[in-house]
Amino acid sequence: MSVSSTPTSARGNHVVIAIDGPAASGKSSTAQWVARRLSYFHVDSGALYRAATLVQLARSAAIDEWTEADVLAGVSRIGFVAAEHTFVPTVGGANVDEELRSGEVTRAVSLVATMPGVRAWVNERVRQAAALQHVVVDGRDIGTVVFPDADLKVFLVADPWERARRRLIQRLGRHPTDPEIAEETDVIVRRDARDATQTVQAADAVLIDTTYLTQEDQVERIVALARAVTHRPDDTSAVDG
Ligand code: DC
Repeated sequence: MSVSSTPTSARGNHVVIAIDGPAASGKSSTAQWVARRLSYFHVDSGALYRAATLVQLARSAAIDEWTEADVLAGVSRIGFVAAEHTFVPTVGGANVDEELRSGEVTRAVSLVATMPGVRAWVNERVRQAAALQHVVVDGRDIGTVVFPDADLKVFLVADPWERARRRLIQRLGRHPTDPEIAEETDVIVRRDARDATQTVQAADAVLIDTTYLTQEDQVERIVALARAVTHRPDDTSAVDG
C-alpha cells in the first residue's frame, strides 16, 4: 500500500514543493518568494489554522472551553481564494490578512492546530489548491502528512535567537535590543514546544539552517533544488524579487 497514492492522484500532474519548519523560521516569506520565482502558487497552511481560530474567537472568547465541534461549526465561513499567486483565506468573503496575524489569534492557534478534525479540514483545503495549481506549501507537516509524495521537501531551521531577532525587525521596523530579543526568544521557544508534535521533518527532506543565510540565499537554494527535481532548469517565467 502506498500512503502517497491519495494525494498524488488528487493533485494530478501538479508540482508540490513542501517547506516545513518551526515558528519564525521564515517559511512563509521564503515560500512566497520561491513561488513567485517559479510562477507557482503559494499556500500558507498556517493561515488556515489562523482563520479557523479567528472565526472561533468571534464566536467565543472562552478559549479553554473550545471543542473541535465548535471550531468546525465555524469553518464553513472560510474561503480560500487565489490572489496574486497566493491562496488567501477569507472570512465571510472578506480579506482578513491583518487579523490573522494578531496576538490574540497567535496565542490561541496552537490549541486549534491540535484538533484532528481541524487538521483534516486544513489538509483538504491545501490538497484542493494543489489540484488547481503548481504549489509551494509551507507549514509543519506538509512533507510528512499532507504531501508525503511532494516533489521537493525542505525543512527550514534557524537558531531561536536569530528567529526572534528577525521577527522583531519585521514587527518593530528597527534593530531590537538584546533584552527585547531575549524576551522574544522565550516566546518562540515556548511556541516551539506547543507545536512540537506537529512539526516533523520528513526523512527525505533537505534540511536548510538559515541562521547564517540571507533570505535571498535561502530562496536561491530552494529554487535551484526545485528546478533540479522538476527538470525545468530553463524556466524563464521567473520574476525577480
Ligand atoms: O506558521 P504559523 O505560525 O502561521 O502557524 C500557525 C499555527 O498553526 C501554529 O500553531 C502551527 C500550526 N500549524 C500546524 O500545526 N500545521 C501546519 N501545517 C501549519 C501550521
